[in-house]
Amino acid sequence: MKRIAVLTSGGDAPGMNAAIRSVVRTGLRKGWDVLGIREGYNGLINDKFIPLGARDVGGVIQKGGTFLGSARCEEFRTEAGRQKGIRALNEHDVDGLVVIGGNGSQTGNYLLSELGFPTVGVASTIDNDLVGSDVTIGVDTSLNIALEAIDRLKVTGSSHQRGFLVEVMGRNCGYLALMAAIAGGAEGVVIPEVETDPREIAETLRSAYERGKSHAIIVVAEGAKYNATKLADYFQDHDSIGFALRVTILGHVQRGGTPSAADRILASRLGAGATDCLERGEYGVLVGWQNGKLATTSLKEVVGKTKNIDLELFELARILD
Ligand code: F6P
Repeated sequence: MKRIAVLTSGGDAPGMNAAIRSVVRTGLRKGWDVLGIREGYNGLINDKFIPLGARDVGGVIQKGGTFLGSARCEEFRTEAGRQKGIRALNEHDVDGLVVIGGNGSQTGNYLLSELGFPTVGVASTIDNDLVGSDVTIGVDTSLNIALEAIDRLKVTGSSHQRGFLVEVMGRNCGYLALMAAIAGGAEGVVIPEVETDPREIAETLRSAYERGKSHAIIVVAEGAKYNATKLADYFQDHDSIGFALRVTILGHVQRGGTPSAADRILASRLGAGATDCLERGEYGVLVGWQNGKLATTSLKEVVGKTKNIDLELFELARILD
């Protein structure tokens, strides 16, 4: 291995910059050249390569987002697009590629590795839905952003005796919602993994109101069958819930935070793990964190799946309402 490249792909996640920095600096330490690719697979296909030295990644560890830019790339979903990417990598004499991203990005990465190119993935997504990593880069920061919002909503909720439906991100995965609900002391949580009847949530709100609570918070994952908007519509037409209700959709706010210490450290370790993999010739794997240690999982085992959430935590959230 003489020259490697690194890209960030899919939804950005706080800590991505720390991961790039770690790939660059550990790669340089191994005596390699390191190139960055701008705007994910789009930049790979459209030849947006830039050299990265140690100083180019100075001052980025504390910044959210990704200074390389990211994208969701339709063309890379086609084999022709991926072949174009491999041609670009060969033209730049790249021997190994590190892809920092979540589910969709690692699917592209897997397909690239199936075409014979040496690649390694780094587990990074605020959704924390990747099989192969107990925790992914970005989720800690995003969770804390959601938590801060919930704490604030409780304050204004108490002033007005209101209920809030707080919608958090997580396309197919309720991890963020569940953890935010437990940490935020929410009255209820709605996640895609557990089908929830809106009548149950109405009952939760009504019971909180009757017990004299000054506010009630229901955390809803965006990917749930009944997201916050649908739930609010349902309540308007059906049951009375006591509280006046408001909807807050946190959306991309959760992605734009300053990375927490936990995310910076995780990213630094996973980035270093990725260059170690390339050095020992372990390709086509995702570098993640399992049971308190770095772990690699074949990308084949990772793609197309969503990590299960711990249903005991769902029960806990219910008990603690
Ligand atoms: O995968 C991360 C994520 O933030 C999901 O939680 C969300 O559904 C999606 O990305 C939003 O995608 P976009 O940034 O393309 O709107």
